[in-house]
Amino acid sequence: MQHNNIDLTGRSAIVTGGASGIGLAVVRRLLDSGARVAVWDVSERSLEAIRPELPADRTHLARLDVTDWAAVEAAAGAAADAFGGLDILVNGAGIADGTSVVQDYPLETWHRELAVNLTGVFHTCRAVIPHLLANGYGRIVNVSSMTAKDGSPNQAGYVASKAGVLALTKTLGRELAESGVVVNAVTPTLFDTPLYRTWAESMSPEVSEWAASRIPMKRVGRPDEAAAMIAWMVSEECSFTTGMTFDLSGGRASF
Ligand SMILES: NC(=O)c1ccc[n+]([C@@H]2O[C@H](COP(=O)([O-])OP(=O)(O)OC[C@H]3O[C@@H](n4cnc5c(N)ncnc54)[C@H](O)[C@@H]3O)[C@@H](O)[C@H]2O)c1
Repeated sequence: MQHNNIDLTGRSAIVTGGASGIGLAVVRRLLDSGARVAVWDVSERSLEAIRPELPADRTHLARLDVTDWAAVEAAAGAAADAFGGLDILVNGAGIADGTSVVQDYPLETWHRELAVNLTGVFHTCRAVIPHLLANGYGRIVNVSSMTAKDGSPNQAGYVASKAGVLALTKTLGRELAESGVVVNAVTPTLFDTPLYRTWAESMSPEVSEWAASRIPMKRVGRPDEAAAMIAWMVSEECSFTTGMTFDLSGGRASF
């Protein structure tokens, strides 16, 4: 597909979960648009796999767990120093490990999903926002999930964490409304990524077919389709919308 040109020349971005799936598509799209990008991901193997394709002069790869506040704070400082400031944060890191109803949901899975998907976003926002405020400009996009809007069986920890991301996004929108920093979220439905494929394999074929059949366009999304929307959301032109949720659901969401 032909890209619209979104000019991010001179902008400095951090993308968490940037070594795979939607995050990686965002990294590629932001680099195509001229930005410098710090890619933060917990998977050393995935980071090493993408290293050869990325321009070394505009990319900074860091192995980092977003649940580790001290590591996030240090990495934000290092990225700001390396790039001479920060403009953009895209929170793509996420896990979806639950496969059972609430009464059987492993406590460990619940705590880990909340820690990565919600506390991780809180950590990166907490660490990066001071750098954006120093600029008087910033764009943050938090990747939530369609399931945050209408629930999903067997995924309580995931769904609750993603709903928390929407509430955090609304709060940040209010807190930062006069600062030049805008904060929005996206709610993807199923997207063809390693996370989705692992989830689909862990479910019975009936459950994954049922989930895909709920998408009116009758297909899952492509990561580059999410990246196209996010690239605009992190541009200067997304200037009068904050605390809001943008749909990426093939027509599934009507609110
Ligand atoms: N694929 C879908 O169907 C779908 C649907 C709705 C929402 N999402 C959300 O989109 C985002 C991207 O998911 P994806 O499908 O591209 O998955 P993915 O597994 O392909 O990519 C997620 C990346 O996050 C990284 N990550 C996981 N835990 C981390 C941690 N603690 N610290 C740093 N990095 C960590 C992983 O190593 C991986 O590279 C996630 O937040 C996910 O919840 C995905």
